[in-house]
Amino acid sequence: MKLLLFISHNGGISRRDAFGKVRNGDVTVNGVVEREPSRAIDPMADKVMLSGRAVNSKEYAYILLNKPAGYVTTCEAQFDQSGVLCLLPPDWRHLKPVGRLDKDTQGLLLLTNDGILANRLAHPSFDVNKIYHVRVVRRLEFREKERLEKGVVIEGTKTAPAQVENITFDGNFTEFDLTIHEGRKHQVRLMCHEVGHDVVRLTRIAQGPLKLGSLKPKAWRVLTGEEIALLAAVGRGVPVKYSSKYSPRKSFKNSTQQPFKNSTRQPFKHSTQQPFKRSPKKGQPGRKKT
Ligand code: URA
Repeated sequence: MKLLLFISHNGGISRRDAFGKVRNGDVTVNGVVEREPSRAIDPMADKVMLSGRAVNSKEYAYILLNKPAGYVTTCEAQFDQSGVLCLLPPDWRHLKPVGRLDKDTQGLLLLTNDGILANRLAHPSFDVNKIYHVRVVRRLEFREKERLEKGVVIEGTKTAPAQVENITFDGNFTEFDLTIHEGRKHQVRLMCHEVGHDVVRLTRIAQGPLKLGSLKPKAWRVLTGEEIALLAAVGRGVPVKYSSKYSPRKSFKNSTQQPFKNSTRQPFKHSTQQPFKRSPKKGQPGRKKT
């Protein structure tokens, strides 16, 4: 967002006055005088002062995007054609994704400038459920389902209990919904890999109280007031009062965590484009492109 717009919108002055203030040297960004009104600022991270008074973002915005595969959620790529922010209109491009999705993962991505809420949702202590619709090669056997649910060791640590539901098998691929309560990097792909399955499609369909619903890929919508209220209550059962008194629950201690032991599988390589080239065993179908 441009400095001029940020100040006029949040500092209660006209654009002309804001322009004058910036040019006069009355505005600082992170403690340094800024005389360029078109300078891009990050309303969540930059500290803007106008004539010695802090200017804070007045409005919080909450957008739910159906992220298509092929776009990254990292902020470094935010102005680049491969970043999710380029899927939003310019007015929303100062928002930040809450958590991350792999480049090849699609589905529900929340973007906001509400830093407090973003931290809560991303923090494991709030135990926010995430539901992924997963498509894997070949049949998911009962014992593999059980392992996913009880927890598997990935990168040296056991995953928290998870739920596998709505399983369907079409002869080549299994699809199911996996509910996890953590947000570890590449977690779903790693978990499936650990039980012997390559993920060929991964879609996040829910995060806490938010549901992807029928939103089309690349489409976005503003959260409803009810959804914002539900999000604010996440993890505590009471609405958040955006104050410094807020104290998160004690750190989530996963009693099932165990040191890395007895894993026979190769470590996951971070390329999600080409997951695990395992040659199909005799009598098993190979991976098909979806
Ligand atoms: N788990 C993954 O493996 N990838 C994602 O993008 C999200 C969860």
